[in-house]
Amino acid sequence: MHKDVLGAAHAIAARFLDDVASRHVGGHATQQSLRDALGGPLPRGASDPISVLTDLAAHADAGIVASAGPRYFGFVTGGSVPVTVAADWMASAWDQNTCLYVMSPASAVIEDVVAQWILELLDLPRVASVGFVTGCHMANFTCLAAARHEVLRRAGWNVEAQGLQKAPRVRVIAGGEVHISAVGALRYLGFGTDEIELIPVDDQGRMRADALEAALSKGSAPTIVCAQAGNVSTGASDPIGAIVTSAHARGAWLHVDGAFGLWAAAVPELRSQVAGIESADSWATDAHKWLNVPYDSGLAIVADAAPHRAAMSMKASYLQRGDDEQRVGMDWVPESSRRGRVLPLYALFRSLGRDGIAAMVRRNCALARRMADRLRTEPGISILNDVVLNQVLVRFTDDDITRRVIAAVQADGTCWAGGAFWQDKQAMRISVSNWSTSEDDVDRSADAILRCFKASS
Ligand SMILES: Cc1ncc(COP(=O)(O)O)c(C=O)c1O
Repeated sequence: MHKDVLGAAHAIAARFLDDVASRHVGGHATQQSLRDALGGPLPRGASDPISVLTDLAAHADAGIVASAGPRYFGFVTGGSVPVTVAADWMASAWDQNTCLYVMSPASAVIEDVVAQWILELLDLPRVASVGFVTGCHMANFTCLAAARHEVLRRAGWNVEAQGLQKAPRVRVIAGGEVHISAVGALRYLGFGTDEIELIPVDDQGRMRADALEAALSKGSAPTIVCAQAGNVSTGASDPIGAIVTSAHARGAWLHVDGAFGLWAAAVPELRSQVAGIESADSWATDAHKWLNVPYDSGLAIVADAAPHRAAMSMKASYLQRGDDEQRVGMDWVPESSRRGRVLPLYALFRSLGRDGIAAMVRRNCALARRMADRLRTEPGISILNDVVLNQVLVRFTDDDITRRVIAAVQADGTCWAGGAFWQDKQAMRISVSNWSTSEDDVDRSADAILRCFKASS
C-alpha cells in the first residue's frame, strides 16, 4: 500500500520536475477555475488514495508556478537541488519530531553536524548556536529575541520573566532599507514600528555607517542595531565592518539580516562584500533561497549560545531532557514540534560540498550580470543597481512602460519577473537564485523581455 501510494506521488513529482523547464513559468489559471476544480463539499466517505493524488495533480496543475524551474526570477526564490527533494521525502516518511533529543536522536545529531558545517562554510564563530526555522522571517525573530534578552540582561532586567512593560527602554536602530520581515519580527517582540530609528542609506540601499555612528553617539540606552547583508532589491550589503565596530564600541548588539546575501561569505571573491560579518552577534538567513533546498528552511545563528537559549528555551516536566551533551532542538527555535527540515540541508552539504555551494552562488551572480548586460544595450532600458550579487533592477523608459513590460513578460510565460519601486521609480526585479539556471535560460529570457519591451513601447 505504502509502495503504491508513494510510487504514484513519485511518478507525479518526477514528471513535474522533468517538465519544469518547459512549462509556462507563471500560474495561468483563474482563481475561479482552481476553486471549481479543487473545491466542492467536504467528502463524506473515503476515496482511493492514488486517485486522490492523480486528481490533485491534474486539478492544481494550471495554478502551479514553475518557481522550481530555471527561468523563475521572482522575489528571491531558490529551486531545489534534486537530492534535497529526495531527502525531504525521507523527512516526511520518517516523520520525526525534532523537538527533543529523545524524540529523534539522529535528527538531533544531524542538526549539530549541519550547524557546524554552516559555521565553517560562512566562517562564523564555531561556538555560535544554530536554530533550524521556517525562513528568514522567523530567523530574524529568533535572533532579535536573543538580542532583546541580552541587552536587557546587561541592564539588569530579565525580559523573559519580567516582561517588557516596565523594562528599561531599548533603542532599535536599522537602515532605511530594513527588510519588512525584520520589522515584523521586532513587532512580535514588542517594539513598535514607530520606535525603530531608521538610518539613511546610499543609492544602493546600504546603511550609511557615518549616520549610524552619529545616531549611536546620541544615546546610551540598551541598543540593538539591525544591519543587512543583501538588499532585497539591489543585493548590496551594508558596510558591516564599520557598523559592527560602531555598534560594539557603544555596547550595542549587532544583528545581520542576510536572507540571501549572507551566502556571499561562502564565496572567496564575494566575501569582501560582507567583510567584518564574523564579528556580529547574530545572523538570520534562508536556506530555501540560495542554498536551493525545498521550502521551508531558515537559519537563526547567534554568536553566544546563552542569550539564544535563554530567549527560546521552555521547560515542562513531561518534555524529558537528557544530559547537556544532547541537542534539544526546541531550545533554539520559537517552536516545539517541528519537522526534520535539516535533512535536505545535510544531503545538500554532503552532495555538493563547500566548493559546489560556492560554485552555485558564483554561477548565479555571473548569470545576473549576463542578464543585465543583455538588457542594458537596448536603448530605453536602464539597469538601476550595481549588479554585485544576483539581483537586477531593470527600468523600461518610464513607470508606465515598465509596468506594461512586467505584465507582458508574465503573460508570455518564457520567464517570470515581478516589479517593485526602487527610489521612487517602477522597476522590474530579476533575481537569479536557481541552481539549474543556465546561460541559455538567461538568453531566452532576455530575448522574451526585449520582445515584450518592443511590443509595449
Ligand atoms: C533581506 C531579507 N530578509 C528577510 C527575508 C524574508 O525571508 P523569508 O520570506 O524566507 O522568511 C527576505 C526575503 O526575501 C529578505 O530578502
